[in-house]
Amino acid sequence: MERRILFPQISGIMHGGDYNPEQWLDRPDILEEDIRLMKEAGMTSATLGVFSWTTYEPREGEFHFDWLKEIMDKLYANGIYTVLATPSGARPAWLDEKYPEAMRVDDYGVRYHHGVRHNHCMSAPIYREKVSIIVNKLIDAVGDHPGLLMWHISNEFGGECYCEHCVKRFRNYLAEKFDHDIAKLNKAWWTTFWSHDYNDFSQIEPPYSNGEFSNMGLNLEWKRFTTWSMTDYMKSEIAILKERTPQIPVTTNYMKLFYGLDYRVMSRELDVVSWDSYPAFHNDWESFADTMGENSFDHAVMRSMKKDRPFMLMESAPGLVNWHGCNKMKRPGVHRLASLQAVALGSDTVQYFQWRKGRGSFEQYHGAVLDHLGTGDTRIFREVAQVGADLEKLSDIRGTLVKSKVALLFDWDNMWAIDAMRGMSQETKEYPKTCIQMYKNLIRFGVDVDIIPSDDSLDDYEVVVAPMLYMIRPGVGESLKRFVERGGQLLATYLTGYVDENQLNFLGGFPGDGLTELFGVVSEELDSLYPTDHNQVRFTDGTVGEVREYAEMLRVNGAEVLGTYTEDYYGGMPAVTSKTYGKGRACYVAARLDDAAMQRLLEECLKAAGVTTYELPCGVERHTREADGKQYVFYLNCTDEIQQVKDVKGTNLLNGEQVDGMLALSPYDVAILA
Ligand code: GAL
Repeated sequence: MERRILFPQISGIMHGGDYNPEQWLDRPDILEEDIRLMKEAGMTSATLGVFSWTTYEPREGEFHFDWLKEIMDKLYANGIYTVLATPSGARPAWLDEKYPEAMRVDDYGVRYHHGVRHNHCMSAPIYREKVSIIVNKLIDAVGDHPGLLMWHISNEFGGECYCEHCVKRFRNYLAEKFDHDIAKLNKAWWTTFWSHDYNDFSQIEPPYSNGEFSNMGLNLEWKRFTTWSMTDYMKSEIAILKERTPQIPVTTNYMKLFYGLDYRVMSRELDVVSWDSYPAFHNDWESFADTMGENSFDHAVMRSMKKDRPFMLMESAPGLVNWHGCNKMKRPGVHRLASLQAVALGSDTVQYFQWRKGRGSFEQYHGAVLDHLGTGDTRIFREVAQVGADLEKLSDIRGTLVKSKVALLFDWDNMWAIDAMRGMSQETKEYPKTCIQMYKNLIRFGVDVDIIPSDDSLDDYEVVVAPMLYMIRPGVGESLKRFVERGGQLLATYLTGYVDENQLNFLGGFPGDGLTELFGVVSEELDSLYPTDHNQVRFTDGTVGEVREYAEMLRVNGAEVLGTYTEDYYGGMPAVTSKTYGKGRACYVAARLDDAAMQRLLEECLKAAGVTTYELPCGVERHTREADGKQYVFYLNCTDEIQQVKDVKGTNLLNGEQVDGMLALSPYDVAILA
């Protein structure tokens, strides 16, 4: 495996952040000071122009780019590269005033007023035209600038539009998808229910909140269409950039498991995946290690979208944000820990929102490297500078990759389908949370886990975990069988294989699509439990697991029973099973179990697959990056106590110390062993 360096121009792990000099053009003294302090903080990049449209084009057709050129020149002269955004994240007032169709229409059919951001109609020809003009002008101005490192397309895509352009495109999209045959669509969407058959594609409306929101197939296809439409829009920007600056890589910044867009589909169009990480550190509903664990999951999602290259941490807050319910400050040391966690999971950058706090408006209290005090002698500045110094030491890690033998299946479609489905307990379905919990229970053993779509190739993996794989997309049943047949360890849970890709139930027993044969079980009933209900699973080794929220009743057909329910009318019935299939094993966990019970089952799968596991103190994460025959093992102490890790060997790149045996980690400390 060879390294894949994203930015050869930068020697260490890239360190940068959103920079908004357009807000300070009347303060040349501040702009001078910015560059001096950026160097002091070890910044190697700045993200410019994310919301600069009105400074570039204050009136229609009147353009100003000199200020941008001047700033890019100065940054470059000081060793700081530019990640340049296209400014389409927010529209000027003149544009909305003259061309109201650029503004979105909501799910009641009402057009938005001008304001805020990220709320354009992605289909409106005039919006696309205006964006194309400004992007071309931007390329004219700085497309050949030596400091231009990368294009950052728009900002945090999201949302839906129900305007006439979008409705028309939705109908065309459906006609295309269902071969212009309305009978096919009716069948796939089971429209005879409530007499909802369509005679023609022209009758179909999106799921307006005061219209047709009761058809599962329609709702799901609208979500897929929204991703398609957003991707189509994004491609229109990429086409301009690639035509004129083919050598410059493109990205756009994602937001965790953002609900409204299937990032896997969008990522096919990007050179690099990047995202914005804003965990609620030190919250009062979970442990700090749990918050870090979820952030680790999010990083793994991003990494797994392009496994052959590093991803980018495009934004993170040096101190605090301003949009959580309670905006708590990161405790001393946590900024470094969170930054190096991104690197541990495969990021080749640590970047911030934002370099300097603005004086006014919506984000005036959002954290930044420099706050209103304006000096570099603050705690936050010092911590950022410390991160800068650490990243500079990690040039050997640039371009290395995380190679995992373990995959967790997660699908956006599956999330939409589970949420939309009327059934179970509406409050406790929690598909993403279940996946995150499963991930945390796996990394407990020091293994890295890829988070991949269910129809991805499973060839590289020895263990596959499929929590709540309700929707089985075409080919997935076969692929899971092949995986187990050749020796893989598969673990699936309750709610596997109920529907196909149109949300039509499989007939003849769940899990469908041939999976009853693979697991050797048929799920006959699904019980939803109230929080006060109680049940347990007793395993054959005598251990017991608590059952929460969901329990399926299984009919066993050739599988071995590993655990049975202890109570209720299904007491004594199978709850956890395992079946040998070919050279591998398929394990079915019919109930939502507590973490300790899940960890025992997962550990067994890892061991059976020959994946090396590690004994780690609770709250310590271990991740590995590798390339060219070298390995870098990260240990992250995600607790506020000293932790000791056994059997560690190597040189700690952060402080040069040799470790052979016990590694002591201070609160929130990180060690990177080469
Ligand atoms: C991001 C966004 C930035 C800024 C930041 C605040 O989601 O891209 O522009 O608003 O949030 O946390």
